[in-house]
Amino acid sequence: MENRIVDAEEQQTDSFENNIRPQSLKEYVGQKEITENLKVFIEAAKIRNEPLDHVLLYGPPGLGKTTLSHIIANELGTNIKTASGPSIEKSGDLAAILSTLEPGDVLFIDEIHRMPKYIEEILYPAMEDFEIDLVLNNDGKSRTIKIDLPPFTLVGATTRAGDISSPLRDRFGIISKLNYYSEEELLKIIMRTSRVLDMPIKENAAKLIAQRCRKTPRIANRLFKRVRDFALVQKNYEIDEELTKTALEKLKVDDYGLDSIDIEYLTSLINKFNGGPVGVETISTSIGEEPSTIEDVVEPFLMQEGFIKRTPRGRVATEKSYDHLKIAHNRSLF
Ligand SMILES: Nc1ncnc2c1ncn2[C@@H]1O[C@H](COP(=O)(O)OP(=O)(O)OP(=O)(O)O)[C@@H](O)[C@H]1O
Ligand SMILES: [Mg+2]
Repeated sequence: MENRIVDAEEQQTDSFENNIRPQSLKEYVGQKEITENLKVFIEAAKIRNEPLDHVLLYGPPGLGKTTLSHIIANELGTNIKTASGPSIEKSGDLAAILSTLEPGDVLFIDEIHRMPKYIEEILYPAMEDFEIDLVLNNDGKSRTIKIDLPPFTLVGATTRAGDISSPLRDRFGIISKLNYYSEEELLKIIMRTSRVLDMPIKENAAKLIAQRCRKTPRIANRLFKRVRDFALVQKNYEIDEELTKTALEKLKVDDYGLDSIDIEYLTSLINKFNGGPVGVETISTSIGEEPSTIEDVVEPFLMQEGFIKRTPRGRVATEKSYDHLKIAHNRSLF
């Protein structure tokens, strides 16, 4: 799928994200329950002079997991070392990362559900007792050596909590689910981005973006950045509602934040498959997108907003979809 503007997954052009990432819990908007708890746990860890318990963050892409992991290290006053699940292929890779840790450091493993099983098993004693058993092969003879690690905090992030094995899950003391953001919170995030990037925006214009960003900060920031481009070209030094409307129309993002792929998905579900139930594989073939893209990127938001429902026999379009696409339907169906 080519750079879809409302795709919550990280894209290459999102590198500007690093500049606009909040650095402290105070600047981090929303997710109140999580941040309030973390604040207490971090404070307590500091008082006890012990590492913070391991933290597992899960939720759809773009909601602030990576941002939060950096903030945790900042608030602890320690360093963060980062790795991603699929990039740790050999036990040596993991040992190399672990050997760089200093007492109290945060080790952030992104996409932790994609870590190979045998790496996961090496991680268990590292998490529990701060030690690892490494198997060395020498002249056909193998021996195990135990390596002591400094106490550290593992922060794992995943978009698929269901794919984490229960032994791994059980080793996290703090498990937090990130939720979609309210319009008010998104408005705050957009106003903050506007200040950081030094491009003023009128509040009603920011509201429009807040309404169409799929409740996701990453998309809010990306839309802001694209609208800013329109403003610059038109030599507008403050983004207003008019310009935002035009820009969003050009970017083909509708009032719900749905884009052409969502619309294609819903249209196909309704017109070709009579509104379902139909399996993901079938829809994916019909619209030419990977089933994993459909499941991870397209469906979560459509489901959350009540455009589709998941049933044991497949996906079903709801009344809201018919209404949104202005397709007549038999009301007794619902
Ligand atoms: N609570 C927040 N307050 C302010 N900005 C936020 C917040 N959460 C996320 N953002 C912004 O959204 C962008 C995306 O967040 P982040 O990269 O942390 O998402 P993620 O959950 O790690 O996504 P992925 O699952 O794709 O790794 C960041 O650049 C950050 O600026
Ligand atoms: Mg991330």
